[in-house]
Amino acid sequence: MTYVHGYHQREQVRLQDQASTLVELLHSDTVYPDGSRVLEAGCGVGAQTVTLAGKNPGAAITSVDISAGSIAEARGKIRKAGYTNVVFEQGDIFHLPFEPGSFDHIFVCFVLEHLAQPIKALRSLESFLKTGGTITVIEGDHGSAYFHPDNESVRKAIQCQVELQKRAGGNANIGRELYPLLQAAGFSSTVVSPRQVYIDASRPELVEGFIKNTFTAMIEGVRQSSIDAELIDATTFDEGIAGLHRTAQKDGVFCYTFFKAVAVKR
Ligand SMILES: C[S@@+](CC[C@H](N)C(=O)[O-])C[C@H]1O[C@@H](n2cnc3c(N)ncnc32)[C@H](O)[C@@H]1O
Repeated sequence: MTYVHGYHQREQVRLQDQASTLVELLHSDTVYPDGSRVLEAGCGVGAQTVTLAGKNPGAAITSVDISAGSIAEARGKIRKAGYTNVVFEQGDIFHLPFEPGSFDHIFVCFVLEHLAQPIKALRSLESFLKTGGTITVIEGDHGSAYFHPDNESVRKAIQCQVELQKRAGGNANIGRELYPLLQAAGFSSTVVSPRQVYIDASRPELVEGFIKNTFTAMIEGVRQSSIDAELIDATTFDEGIAGLHRTAQKDGVFCYTFFKAVAVKR
């Protein structure tokens, strides 16, 4: 694999920055009734788990990830935050050890974008839901990034990330597909809400937290792999990164849309 989220220190810091900046935008309505059993699939280093646990103190949350290292990191984070409503298990979404209908709700964030078979993953998760239970899926979509000043090199650098993720079996533009994916997996009552991050200089916390520490850091992270794969030359890539930083200046603007879907198991 040329590119994997979550396993390196810098990635962990980036995912954490991303999570704290976006908490309100993505999670203001991630609320589960007291007594609910919630499965978080692909919890990574726990960036969303902390929010889920804090916003839903009465829910019993089970968070799983295929990476033992990420699980250890996530467990430490939850312990440090003092939450006691989460248990962690290492597991593969396609082979989870739970009984059918074990959960009232499932939560999946920034995971489908990495899977070659997202519909199969959704079907597998569906089997662990009670009838009438919900699945919440959150994904980004790199095709939704636009900015001022516009810059061809920025678009080329972003496209490198999209192409590398595709070569690794994933889809960095999956956000726009959540409705058809959930329908194809057999869910009903699917509702998708686009959540746009709009950033100009009047929102300095997002200039730092999203333009610089999230999006630009993510694109910078694929510099060497992109050059090695001959997707781009070093000069164009570096112009792209400079162009991204340019959007963070006082007359710059940056937009990106996440998609949040909630669907019901029939
Ligand atoms: C980009 S991270 C997102 C982590 C977390 N949900 C967040 O929003 O910060 C994607 C995670 O999915 C996990 N993952 C990928 N394939 C998986 C699978 N088949 N089963 C379980 N977890 C998987 C990876 O190990 C990684 O931790």
